[in-house]
Amino acid sequence: MGLFKRINLALSRRIHWRLPNALTEPLFPEYERLIWQYTSGLENGVIVDVGAGYLLPDSLKCERSPDVTLIGMDILPSSLEKNTDIDAAVIADACKPWPFEDNSIDVVFSRSVMEHLYDNETFVSEMHRTLKPGGICIHVLPGKHAPFSILNRLLPNKVTKMLVEWAFPERKGELGFVAYYHHCSPPALQRLFERNGFSIEYERLRYYQSAYYVSVFPVFLLSAGYDWLMWKLGTIRLASQILIVAKKPVITENQPERVE
Ligand SMILES: C[S@@+](CC[C@H](N)C(=O)[O-])C[C@H]1O[C@@H](n2cnc3c(N)ncnc32)[C@H](O)[C@@H]1O
Repeated sequence: MGLFKRINLALSRRIHWRLPNALTEPLFPEYERLIWQYTSGLENGVIVDVGAGYLLPDSLKCERSPDVTLIGMDILPSSLEKNTDIDAAVIADACKPWPFEDNSIDVVFSRSVMEHLYDNETFVSEMHRTLKPGGICIHVLPGKHAPFSILNRLLPNKVTKMLVEWAFPERKGELGFVAYYHHCSPPALQRLFERNGFSIEYERLRYYQSAYYVSVFPVFLLSAGYDWLMWKLGTIRLASQILIVAKKPVITENQPERVE
């Protein structure tokens, strides 16, 4: 690693550790905990990791009931081939009709995927069709109005890829997919789930996105100030990351069905 990068990283880290934990705390551990909460009690059924790539959430790597099938679904066969922890791989576009029966899945989840889907309306509607009544979905994704997301849309994908690979060489291949951020802001996301028949069970927002700039200290410093201010003001629309849990309600006899 070059001297320039080492100095910038050291300075950024000094500031990072001084920021309040409630601002910098990542959402991924809670995403993992929620997956564990909703899947560990299942004795049988189907769990689907959409846009699974080659990584499975750690919370699913432990033993599960032999009657629970864990499916990894992704548009890229090359990623799924490396994902050795899943029971079955399904190569499919999540924005087209899913290759699953109606009411057949117990839990669907995705990490850092919804921002890459060009049609989240179809994605959410297919998730609703294929989840069992009472089924749960859990998603974590970046907010479209955060500075790094805006930058990501402004810069050509080739340039974004080059920059993230320079800043995080250890994550080569994981970052830099084309991103659309279709409905990826907290209010739009809530409306998207609700109009497709889901009830929102839980939502948590994060405002810290400065970690992207740790290799260039002045940018990091400016960004950390911005994140702190947005967090203090609670500007929901500008949140940088969203964790959302939604449920497909169980329809009781007296309840009317959803009108399409
Ligand atoms: C940033 S990676 C996240 C991978 C994994 N979920 C993780 O957390 O490491 C985004 C994944 O979404 C997949 N993807 C992108 N567009 C997709 C689509 N239309 N349908 C299904 N998967 C898609 C990509 O192939 C990639 O594996």
